[in-house]
Amino acid sequence: MQSTGTSRPQPLPPDLIDPLARLAGRVRILSSTPLWFEEVGSTSDVAVSLAGRGSPEGTLVVANAQTAGRGRLGRSWASPPGAGLYVSAILYPPRPTSLLTLAAGVAVSHALLAATGLVTALKWPNDVYVGRRKLAGLLAEGGTSADGRAFVVLGIGINVLAAAYPPDVAARATSLEAELGRAVDRGIVLAELIGALDSGFVRLREDDANGLLHEWRRLAAPLLGRPVEWDEGDARLSGVARDVDDQGALLVDAGGTTRRVVGGEVRWL
Ligand code: BTN
Repeated sequence: MQSTGTSRPQPLPPDLIDPLARLAGRVRILSSTPLWFEEVGSTSDVAVSLAGRGSPEGTLVVANAQTAGRGRLGRSWASPPGAGLYVSAILYPPRPTSLLTLAAGVAVSHALLAATGLVTALKWPNDVYVGRRKLAGLLAEGGTSADGRAFVVLGIGINVLAAAYPPDVAARATSLEAELGRAVDRGIVLAELIGALDSGFVRLREDDANGLLHEWRRLAAPLLGRPVEWDEGDARLSGVARDVDDQGALLVDAGGTTRRVVGGEVRWL
């Protein structure tokens, strides 16, 4: 087995074996046999290191705990043992696409519905919400492998138990078990997640950007039409979130002018 630069992958825990075995044959891009770690700094760090050394497309790094989980905009992502799903996937997109993270957000939402029946909403660019609370987040990072191929590592964190996030963010965060009021089989959620991500990536590769954007808009509907604010340089701007364009940028109606937001944080008011 290939070294990851950290520790060596370990055998899958018993609760993941059957759900992942049922995935085999259902996936075209992603592996159905993730590299499993009891504890890593960050699954995305491991995946970036593996991609840098040319690990195959579809390699998945999954951990029971992260000691240095990372979120967007330099934030940390709390990742206590067994409380969440911490997953990173290596992709080598044939051409640059800003739609990859939107596709991943759609996939997370589909997977949660399929695995648990929970209905979630997407908040641009790629947060997964239930009502006003965040349930899951995505982090996309790029790089170039030693053989010159551009890679993207998509990191996904899903709160399974309320213990996944610190008490001081409990007003803004939620978990599958808190929403459903029952225990959740993380193996089934992981298998559905891998299957849904794979379908989304296949769809993008087959150039179905329109279908993807249509689905993203449907899942984002609860948050579109709402007032938002964001920062550009020193200026704080505000408006009403209206749509995404075909590059995945958020379109905001700011006093009759449409502004295109391509990065950073948008706060829903
Ligand atoms: C965000 O909403 O800010 C993105 C959170 C992404 C967290 C995941 S957990 C798996 C992967 N490893 C990390 O260190 N981060 C991502």
